[in-house]
Amino acid sequence: MSFNRPKLSVVGAGFVGATVAQRMADRELGDVTMIDIVPDMPQGKALDMFESAPVERFDARITGSNNLADLKDSAVVVVTSGIARKPGMSRDDLLKTNAGIVNGVIDAVKQHAPNAILIMVTNPLDVMTYLAHKRSGFPKNRVIGMAGVLDSARMASFVAMELNVSVKDVSPMVLGGHGDTMVPLPRYTTVSGIPITDLMSPERIDAINKRTQNGGAEIVSLLKTGSAYYAPGSSVVAMVESIVKDQRRILPCCVLLEGEYGLKGSWQGVPCVLGKNGLEKIIELKLNDSEKKQLGVSNDHVAKAIEECKKVLGL
Ligand code: NAI
Ligand code: 2OP
Repeated sequence: MSFNRPKLSVVGAGFVGATVAQRMADRELGDVTMIDIVPDMPQGKALDMFESAPVERFDARITGSNNLADLKDSAVVVVTSGIARKPGMSRDDLLKTNAGIVNGVIDAVKQHAPNAILIMVTNPLDVMTYLAHKRSGFPKNRVIGMAGVLDSARMASFVAMELNVSVKDVSPMVLGGHGDTMVPLPRYTTVSGIPITDLMSPERIDAINKRTQNGGAEIVSLLKTGSAYYAPGSSVVAMVESIVKDQRRILPCCVLLEGEYGLKGSWQGVPCVLGKNGLEKIIELKLNDSEKKQLGVSNDHVAKAIEECKKVLGL
């Protein structure tokens, strides 16, 4: 049985991976393959999801596998395999374990799906995206990290709560690395075109910025046994949808900067046009001195983590 639909693969069928798979199928973005090392688990989740299709009425095949060879001919590969952050654990603590896992997965993508667009999710996100680019040798337009869509969605949620307005009218923007030094941009965050700097006090904006920067840890401290997955799943799917439907949405993503924002060889979250080739274009916002300084701090943090990764892996 085969259909002329894009093959969308997700490696890691845990909380984030399964959420991504389910939402991609619900939205009929393509046929979905979920791969995990746990025997039978991805097959069970895939069958359960497919059995929801007659009720939800979506046309998408969903299969599960324990074999990375089943990545064959994927158009998009979402990489979520790894260990999730536990309470008290920083994203960078995850580095060593997840680097080993990601390298193995990227080798398989190279072998079985050499034309795929990679969407990285595994933490520490910016470092893993760097690693995937280096290990795969893929061009930079096909290696994209998911973080900015999630961080921006969190900011939009907090703005909507604060102003008691619909989330639909909030258009957020967060730059930088996926960590405490990320850079929420209130001047570029609008509600129906009105910058939030015209709608709330500097103190309330500051509180929203801080809550956004702490957004991942806030969920970890509530869940206690893992990290967020509903909003991360939705964020990945927005990126996949923009790519497979060639929507050319502008979404903040972690990509390789080669001079943009005055940064060279850096992996940072910036607004990107996502279309059929993956990263189609980087949008350069005009930043003021304070915003530039914050982006510099974030860049230093990511650069240090990448150096640490190189040291740990002997690169
Ligand atoms: P999870 O533990 O539920 O799922 C991870 C899955 O990866 C597990 O099912 C595990 O068996 C699988 N796995 C491990 N090694 C594998 C391998 N070699 N091949 C295939 N599968 C393998 O974790 P969760 O919550 O889904 O998070 C996944 C990753 O995503 C974590 O690193 C987490 O920190 C990160 N994350 C990143 C976000 C971002 O904004 N970039 C947001 C949320 C999570
Ligand atoms: C988050 O921000 C864990 O990075 C993940 O929720």
